[in-house]
Amino acid sequence: MTDSKGHEVIEFENVGLRYGDGPEILKDVSFSIEPGSFHFLTGPSGSGKTSLLRLLLLSLKPSSGTMSMFGEDITNLKRERLLELRRHIGIVFQEFRLLEHLSTFENVALPLRVLGQSEENYKDNVTELLDWVGLGDRMHAKPALLSGGEKQRAAIARAVIARPEILLADEPTGNVDPALSERLLHLFAELNRMGTTIIVATHELNMLKKFDYPCLQLTENGELNYG
Ligand SMILES: Nc1ncnc2c1ncn2[C@@H]1O[C@H](COP(=O)(O)OP(=O)(O)O)[C@@H](O)[C@H]1O
Ligand SMILES: [Mg+2]
Repeated sequence: MTDSKGHEVIEFENVGLRYGDGPEILKDVSFSIEPGSFHFLTGPSGSGKTSLLRLLLLSLKPSSGTMSMFGEDITNLKRERLLELRRHIGIVFQEFRLLEHLSTFENVALPLRVLGQSEENYKDNVTELLDWVGLGDRMHAKPALLSGGEKQRAAIARAVIARPEILLADEPTGNVDPALSERLLHLFAELNRMGTTIIVATHELNMLKKFDYPCLQLTENGELNYG
């Protein structure tokens, strides 16, 4: 959608963010992300990692500065166009957000159903992806019966089933043991090798050391450094 046109997939210029009349959470944030790259987003708790991901997900708009995604300045875009762009972005939320009344298969298929595809159409894709993340034998189970790691992999499968160009993950390894978090990171690395642009928010130094990806670092007062 954009790579061929040669611009950055994400570009922030002096972006500020505040919630309502509250204090400025993000201050003068400028950075750009090339298509197909992998970045960590770090910073202490409360520094604004989740807020920055909400901006990237187009569910919040900056209070100041300019921000473009896929080469389009999003600050004045209509809601309809924002929703279109939003379809090219997948997210793994910190708390999974799986729907409890749906099976694992149905949860992962949901983004495709929303896009209007029929089960006949997506059944093989969803099954294949569930196999790939190691949930092939759990696809009929509801989330309540899944372990933390299985829920996490289901959330990742749902985030990538519609082949997003950008994948965001908010502390995806926060609730799983070290061995599993390393496996999850390998899964992200593999998606990245297939071309997906990835940003993973984490404050786990182990992960940062083990995987040598560049880091966007938020400071305690909401400023951003490249590291
Ligand atoms: N919906 C909101 N309304 C008001 N303040 C918020 C909201 N969400 C987050 N904040 C505040 O923004 C700051 C950054 O939070 P957050 O983005 O969640 O940081 P992090 O993910 O790095 O822990 C915190 O001070 C938090 O209290
Ligand atoms: Mg957070």
